[in-house]
Amino acid sequence: MQSGISSMAYLVASALFILSLRGLSHPATARRGNLYGVSGMAIAIVTTLWVAGGAALPVVLALMVIGVVAGAVLARRVEMTQMPQLVAALHSFVGLAAVLVAIASYLSPLAAPGGAAESIHDVEIYLGVFIGAVTFTGSIVAFLKLQGVVGGKPLMLPMRHTLNLVGVFACIALGYLFLTANDPGAGIGPLLTMTAIAALLGVHLVMAIGGADMPVVVSMLNSYSGWAAAATGFMLGNDLLIVTGALVGSSGAILSYIMCRAMNRSFLSVILGGFGTTAASTAMAIEGEVLPVSVDEVGSLLKDASQVIIVPGYGMAVAQAQAAISEITRKLRDKGVKVRFGIHPVAGRLPGHMNVLLAEAKVPYDIVLEMDEINEDFSDTDVVLVIGANDIVNPAALEDPGSPIAGMPVLEVWKARTVIVSKRSMASGYAGVDNPLFYKENTRMLFGDAKSSVDALLAQLSA
Ligand code: TAP
Repeated sequence: MQSGISSMAYLVASALFILSLRGLSHPATARRGNLYGVSGMAIAIVTTLWVAGGAALPVVLALMVIGVVAGAVLARRVEMTQMPQLVAALHSFVGLAAVLVAIASYLSPLAAPGGAAESIHDVEIYLGVFIGAVTFTGSIVAFLKLQGVVGGKPLMLPMRHTLNLVGVFACIALGYLFLTANDPGAGIGPLLTMTAIAALLGVHLVMAIGGADMPVVVSMLNSYSGWAAAATGFMLGNDLLIVTGALVGSSGAILSYIMCRAMNRSFLSVILGGFGTTAASTAMAIEGEVLPVSVDEVGSLLKDASQVIIVPGYGMAVAQAQAAISEITRKLRDKGVKVRFGIHPVAGRLPGHMNVLLAEAKVPYDIVLEMDEINEDFSDTDVVLVIGANDIVNPAALEDPGSPIAGMPVLEVWKARTVIVSKRSMASGYAGVDNPLFYKENTRMLFGDAKSSVDALLAQLSA
């Protein structure tokens, strides 16, 4: 009876998770999608507590209270710009949980099913530990890189691909020893040795990825964390965990694939730790002069323009300039200027970062266009306003084969009549690459914090 009801509840929760993913695919339905997700999770937690019941309940409840308090404090403190780090840190928890559950499941005599099922259970344990350990340490390195504690430059050890291969083969050999160990608990040696090797692999794979490719790594680790959760679901015989893990694993893999395509990177090369990236990059020397501009001049340019494209980047999120930008957009549209937004797939620090901020600031969805939809239109544009963006508008990606971001498609803003770049200094962006855009003849630099600049511009347009 209990198992029938819990299976039904898990089915409902799974359906809600699928509806949630569907809802999250568009800003207009994202809020509803979140509600579905929260409801599914509530059903899942209550059912799991009910199934666990008995003696385990007080321990689980006490741990949940700690988790809820820590989660609530974190959610209140974390800025929108720190979300990718938070996501990476949360992935590391999933990885660690998979490792711990798998090892506990191996050591616990209660969990051993016996017979043929025992071998399958052991394979699940081994895979769970492997994926979990790679996810755990890989996510910690991703967290440190996104937090700026570890530099964005890829670590290029000599013979790094051979090292990775040796690591993988060692894990396969240890897997054989683990699965053929006869006495109960005798496989713990190979299991723990493999855990250490997988953990080192996770560190090495992510250390080899350069700054500009980090978005793909984060979504890849998201996918790994899903597979780790699915493996845990198999170990514990929990259907909901299997379904949820598979949903996260496959959606993360699809997102990684889409991002790789958008950034013109090979999916395989990113999984294999930057396979194909060259150690030494020889960036071309930049020529030209930096031409600063005043708010008044920008105001006049905008008033006289008939077509304007705004390109937001990470700096807009830091400065929280989106509301003022939305207001400027409204003012210009009221004056009959055609204003649109150009969004690069990896603008900011997390997928959809700019879309979320602009939606929050009530910019109409229909004027917010993806890179592919707007890249052709820059040559017919009078003014492009680049607000706190850098790597995503760097012409070196197309013009300089020696650049670390070579081959990455970018918004070709320099084709417009005038480009205004709002940023605080000449500092480089996330990928640490100089930007020739700032030295082009038709570029004007509006130095200062984006919020102050945009506020001043708004006042000028309102005057
Ligand atoms: P970035 O290349 O990082 O450039 C942001 C620029 O904003 C900086 O050059 C900075 O210059 C400026 N800035 C910072 N604070 C500012 C403020 N308060 N006011 C005005 N300007 C400010 O950003 P992007 O062009 O959006 O490109 C995104 C980069 O992040 C890509 O390399 C991408 O690969 C990487 N990344 C993306 C993601 C995802 S999923 N989107 C995840 C991880 C990494 P100043 O210091 O001179 O002001």
